Amino acid sequence: MKIIKTSQSRLSKTDFSNLPFGRVFSDHMLICNFKNNKWQTPEIVPYGPIEMTPATQALHYGQSIFEGMKAFKNDSNEILLFRKKDNLNRLNRSAKRLSIPEIPNEIFLSGLDQLLHLDQNWCIKDDNYSLYIRPFIFASAEYIKACESDEYKFVIITSPTTTYYTNDIDVIIEEKYTRAASGGVGFAKASGNYAASFYPAKIAKNKGFTQIIWTDAKEHRYIEEAGTMNIWFVIDSKLITPKLTDSILAGITRDSVIKIANDLNIEVEEREVSVDELIEANKNHKLQEAFGTGTAVTISPINSITYRDEKILIPKKSNPKSLEIKTIFQNIQRGRYPDKYSWVSKLSV
Ligand code: COI
Repeated sequence: MKIIKTSQSRLSKTDFSNLPFGRVFSDHMLICNFKNNKWQTPEIVPYGPIEMTPATQALHYGQSIFEGMKAFKNDSNEILLFRKKDNLNRLNRSAKRLSIPEIPNEIFLSGLDQLLHLDQNWCIKDDNYSLYIRPFIFASAEYIKACESDEYKFVIITSPTTTYYTNDIDVIIEEKYTRAASGGVGFAKASGNYAASFYPAKIAKNKGFTQIIWTDAKEHRYIEEAGTMNIWFVIDSKLITPKLTDSILAGITRDSVIKIANDLNIEVEEREVSVDELIEANKNHKLQEAFGTGTAVTISPINSITYRDEKILIPKKSNPKSLEIKTIFQNIQRGRYPDKYSWVSKLSV
């Protein structure tokens, strides 16, 4: 692989005490082009603008997908990646659905390791920090016919990060707009899923909410996700999350929470969760917790859920299950807890 190192690192000028999510980027990026029917040799180059023409296909038709993953420094200063193969597999599931050529394992895995090795000092050894990794693929052909592209760019950028949500999470159950419908691309990390969510999220924000709880497209009766997170409830001491369908993203944090909860002998149910059930559980004082999970947010408690005119305040427990699970989750990510599922890997360079 060709590696061109930056001659001017931005590291010493970066204010690590002020890192709003997704605004600061490490020195290098990986780029790999797909053309002539094949992925070419990747390159690592200084982070910076990517040249493209106004006719670049992704700008017109949104043929574009991404992933979110994280790296951590352990107590011996080694970089640990969390569930990288699961992100690769999900990227390729998204690629298939968006008719994008799948990325070969070697390009993704070894490219990522080399990029992280080069920018290792951007990954801070401190429990408040992680290095957020954003792999993405977009249609890069100069061609505005509405058809799949014959050229793509696979890029990985990284961004030092602290917390995603800095305030309480107050959500409102959405009954008009829909994030994803059956048969669509809701299960994929398609860029357009996020674009379509911004307008309804803005309306919710203007009413004082952090995010929306998405409900099913057909009846708006069943809960699907919350903002960009998978959603969870503790009802009557059971951990409940909507079961995966083709309109719900198969979160890697979601899957990790299920496994950790099973290990803790916490009963987990993956099934349909209706808005009515939630309201009823609250009425009967059986709704004990609500939280969201995702790579960026990790495991974040929800403060309140609003349905029409009713605001449900989620009880603040002294030792919530979400915190118990989060502590184990983060200790596994940072290499401090037995990694029985082999989720964590060190760099191979
Ligand atoms: C992630 O958690 O990595 C996500 O994909 C959310 C992102 C839209 C910030």
